[in-house]
Formats: sequence, structure tokens, C-alpha cells
Amino acid sequence: MSGDERVVPLDRVVRRVLEGVSGRDSRYVIGIAGPPGAGKSTLADALREAFGSAHGVRIAEIAPMDGYHLSNAELRVRGDLARKGEPDTFDAAGYVENLGRLRHAPIGEPVPWPTFDRRIEEPTPAGVVFTRQRVVITEGNYLLCDGAWSGVRDLLDERWYLDADRDVLERRLLRRHLRGGRTADAARAKVRDSDLRNADLIARTRSRADLVLRERQGGYYAVVR
Ligand SMILES: Nc1ncnc2c1ncn2[C@@H]1O[C@H](COP(=O)(O)OP(=O)(O)OP(=O)(O)O)[C@@H](O)[C@H]1O
Ligand SMILES: [Mg+2]
Repeated sequence: MSGDERVVPLDRVVRRVLEGVSGRDSRYVIGIAGPPGAGKSTLADALREAFGSAHGVRIAEIAPMDGYHLSNAELRVRGDLARKGEPDTFDAAGYVENLGRLRHAPIGEPVPWPTFDRRIEEPTPAGVVFTRQRVVITEGNYLLCDGAWSGVRDLLDERWYLDADRDVLERRLLRRHLRGGRTADAARAKVRDSDLRNADLIARTRSRADLVLRERQGGYYAVVR
């Protein structure tokens, strides 16, 4: 680890966020952006666990950007199924609108959020319903992008970017596509022509993050600038 890196234990992040959360009427929103395969969903899960529960209710819940994937049927009609995963194959306006609702709705008022079922590669409407959770962890590729996504940044209390080396991304994504049933050739093509091109686009948004994280052994994540 070089001199300009800092180790950030998740429990310290949790303590800092909880100090900001107490006394607020609205939810605190942490956004985790980053390229496909960086480990955003994995980090979000670990963070949700680290926040724990109070009075039998989770303090933090995850609002995945992936829940706003357009359905396969809609992408097929538009002729965009092969481009699934690119910025305009999501309902970005729906994501921004519901994130605003989540942020501003009184704690306790139910706000449904769609999740994404990787086994069938389709969104699940109202896969999670926010009620008394005070912290939102929203994670996805395009949180710091422009265009239809440009409204996201103002809805985030913290803008994080989880980075990973390209060869790590490539290896993880290949494994994911092979497990999902693609042939080796099809998996390589998807990684090369789609995932890594999206990763390049996303990398250009890294400078907008407040905190750039990289995974380290032992569940620690380090700031790299
Ligand atoms: N810290 C880690 N150590 C080892 N493997 C990891 C780690 N984080 C993630 N992975 C693995 O890498 C793969 C991708 O992780 P994950 O699904 O969390 O990435 P993601 O950033 O959410 O990707 P996407 O943008 O495509 O949703 C998974 O197989 C996961 O198990
Ligand atoms: Mg993910």
C-alpha cells in the first residue's frame, strides 16, 4: 500500500455515518458507483451487515440501480437486448424519481424498490420495501454519469467509487457469464464488447467521487488518492 492510501474499516465508516444520521428526518443516502464486477453489490451487502439493526429493524437497506434494468421483453422490442447493461438500457428517470422519494419520504412510509434477479436476468418489482430503515445504500454502474443519470449525484449524501484492476474485472465477468450459461466465445465477446466498454465509460466518472475505494485483504477498503 503506498503512502497516499488510507485503510477504511467499514465499522469506522458506519460510526461516522450514524453520527450524521441521528437527528435527521430524512434518509441518509450512500451511493456506490464503479465498473461491472468491481464488487459493488458485495460491498453493499457487507456494509448493510455492518450497520446492523436497531429495535428489530435494519438500519441500512440496499436500493440497487440494477432494479431499473428494462425488462428483456422491452429491450427485445427496442432491438436493444444485445446491448443490455449499457446506460440507456435502464429506466434512469424511474431510478432518479424513486431515489428522490426514498430520500425525502418520511421514515416509516413504505417505499417499494425493485431488485434484480441475476438467475433470470430480470427485475423483481418491489423486491424490497423501505419502511423504517434510515440509511440507503444505492449501488450501480452509472450513478456518477451525465445525461439521464445526472440527477443522481444531488440525491447522494456520499459519492463512492469502487475500483478494481481491469484483469480482475475481466476474470470475474468471464466467470459470471460462463456460470450464466454462455459459451466461452460468447462470454469473452460479452466482456470485450460490452462490459469493458461500459467500464471505460464509467472510469471517466471516477473523479466525481468523494471517496475512491479498492478492495483489500480482510474486508478492508482503502482510499487511493
Ligand atoms: N472482495 C472480494 N473478494 C473476492 N471476490 C469478490 C470480492 N468482491 C466481489 N467479488 C466477486 O466478484 C464478482 C463480482 O462482484 P459483484 O457482483 O459484487 O460486483 P458488482 O460491482 O456488483 O458488479 P455489477 O456492476 O456487474 O453488478 C462476484 O463473483 C463476487 O463474488
Ligand atoms: Mg452488482
